[in-house]
Amino acid sequence: MRKQIAAANWKMNLTYQDGEKLLDDILDAGISLAPHQHSIFAVPFPYLIMTRSEVAEEFNYHAAAQNCHHKTSGAYTGEVSVEMLQSIGVNYCVIGHSERREYNAETNEILAAKVNLCLQHDITPIFCCGEPLSVREAGTQNEFVANQLKESLFHLPANSLKGIIIAYEPIWAIGTGKTATTAQAQEIHQFLRSVIADQYGATLANEIPILYGGSVKANNAVELFACPDVDGGLVGGASLVASDFIAIIKALK
Ligand code: PGA
Repeated sequence: MRKQIAAANWKMNLTYQDGEKLLDDILDAGISLAPHQHSIFAVPFPYLIMTRSEVAEEFNYHAAAQNCHHKTSGAYTGEVSVEMLQSIGVNYCVIGHSERREYNAETNEILAAKVNLCLQHDITPIFCCGEPLSVREAGTQNEFVANQLKESLFHLPANSLKGIIIAYEPIWAIGTGKTATTAQAQEIHQFLRSVIADQYGATLANEIPILYGGSVKANNAVELFACPDVDGGLVGGASLVASDFIAIIKALK
């Protein structure tokens, strides 16, 4: 079975102490993951070492960065490189979250550079795509997200693309409490898989986890994750409450 993933995105929330307590509460629930199930915590940079050591003993629990810089190293004050992440044993990184695309002007081209660097450093990119409300209202969401994949991922050879996780997050559903319906989620996930299949073949397309993000909650995760092409979720708000995220992990297929 394809990997099924519950990924927490803490964004710029929680103190170190609150984060450590949240992680403890979630791990203390002792949910044992099946070999195809994973839970990933995308935490602020200063919490990565703590998170990494908390999950070290746990099967299929992982730490992730929320971002990395698109250059290898150098005079970029305040930035964090993929080599730095690799040196502290971080194996996952969220790339191209819509908030970074919007507030930090990250383009598809910059994101392609980040994806390359991650793959060169054995870090799995969790590549985010998704359309704004205006695009959804115009009905051109498929073209919009296909273009995001094409411009940031489709330069990769098949054996590199294989190492990617995709997160489809419609911007109009992020932090708004407006979740895509299961029909909307399944439709666009299936479409994204077909776009990958056209480029790389159906076998590879069937191996890539495509997560849904945008107001995933404890009470809608089971329904969303049950869709055949939805392989789990990237979760913001509900990942900050232990009982909610525990329920979301348990909702994985
Ligand atoms: P949300 O955020 O679950 O709070 O909508 C999801 C995300 O931005 O990754």
